[in-house]
Amino acid sequence: MAAATAHLLAFLSVLTTMAALSSVAAGGRMTDQLDILWGPTQLLNGSNGGDDQTIGLSLDRVMGSGFRSKTSYLFARIDIDIKLVPGNSAGTVTTVYLMSEQQWKTHDEIDLEFLGNLTGQPYTLHTNIFANGSGGREVQYRLWFDPTLDFHTYSIIWSSDEILILVDNKAIRRFRNHWDVGIPFPVYQPMRLNGVLWDADDWATQGGRVKTDWSQAPFTAYFRNYRANGCEPSGSAWVCGQGPAPGGGDWLDGGAAGLDDMKRQEQLKEAEDMYMIYNYCTDSKRFPGGFPTECGLA
Ligand SMILES: *[C@@H]1O[C@H](CO)[C@@H](O)[C@H](O)[C@H]1NC(C)=O
Ligand SMILES: *[C@@H]1O[C@H](CO)[C@@H](O)[C@H](O)[C@H]1NC(C)=O
Ligand SMILES: *[C@@H]1O[C@H](CO)[C@@H](O)[C@H](O)[C@H]1NC(C)=O
Repeated sequence: MAAATAHLLAFLSVLTTMAALSSVAAGGRMTDQLDILWGPTQLLNGSNGGDDQTIGLSLDRVMGSGFRSKTSYLFARIDIDIKLVPGNSAGTVTTVYLMSEQQWKTHDEIDLEFLGNLTGQPYTLHTNIFANGSGGREVQYRLWFDPTLDFHTYSIIWSSDEILILVDNKAIRRFRNHWDVGIPFPVYQPMRLNGVLWDADDWATQGGRVKTDWSQAPFTAYFRNYRANGCEPSGSAWVCGQGPAPGGGDWLDGGAAGLDDMKRQEQLKEAEDMYMIYNYCTDSKRFPGGFPTECGLA
């Protein structure tokens, strides 16, 4: 319990810091906010004075590629537009994730992984949440559009109350903070946004049966319009932005795109009914002795 108490104390001091809010700007050039780290990448500058940059991450036989946000955030709303690898993308995984940097044992992570597929076969959006070092909270979706034809907006809203995952501003997944009953939730470790394209043909496509066709390489996914409204380090404190999130509203209080909770619940229900293809909370083969505690909580 000592660890939990320490987390809670750290969390309370974060809240105290957040009481003194000022504004942190969001938007701007991708390269002002992201470091392109490794692998075969491209930076395409648009015509709009550089504000419409696009980053291409590629995967070839030798390696994948990745970028990472220059800042870490302690709670944030992140939006990024992605156009996924077209055609035969089997074996490839395009991923954006928030991850804490220290203490692997107790690391926190919020994952969106796009699992490629054969030409004409649907991508899977695989989501997972790690808190205090443990994950295993997988929920998967089929998208309601072809994510390779155009850019679509994928968002993570991470507040002290909940994590929301949105696709084109529609909430598809919610994970609430239930620290009160001892379920870990990321509240005390800052996280950075990472974007990576890699090869995972041992498991990604149709359970690993379909392998990467390297004759199609290099594979490329494009990212643009990165927006982060978050709490960022400023001297010894954390300062939270309240910039205009897409859809309006204050990301920290207003939650998903400034939508009221009813609307958000409708969206989550629709995602569950129509687009969800796997949920760890209903996988009774995996949890014969009973589901994880959070599965029974609203
Ligand atoms: C794009 O803009 C960046 C930053 O100004 C510059 O370093 C880079 O060379 C430009 N790339 C291209 C392909 O024009
Ligand atoms: C958090 O992780 C630590 C280290 O692994 C562990 O000792 C502790 O029990 C965990 N806390 C909870 C609430 O799971
Ligand atoms: C790929 O397509 C097959 C057939 O439609 C489907 O069963 C599978 O879930 C799709 N996605 C992945 C990542 O394998």
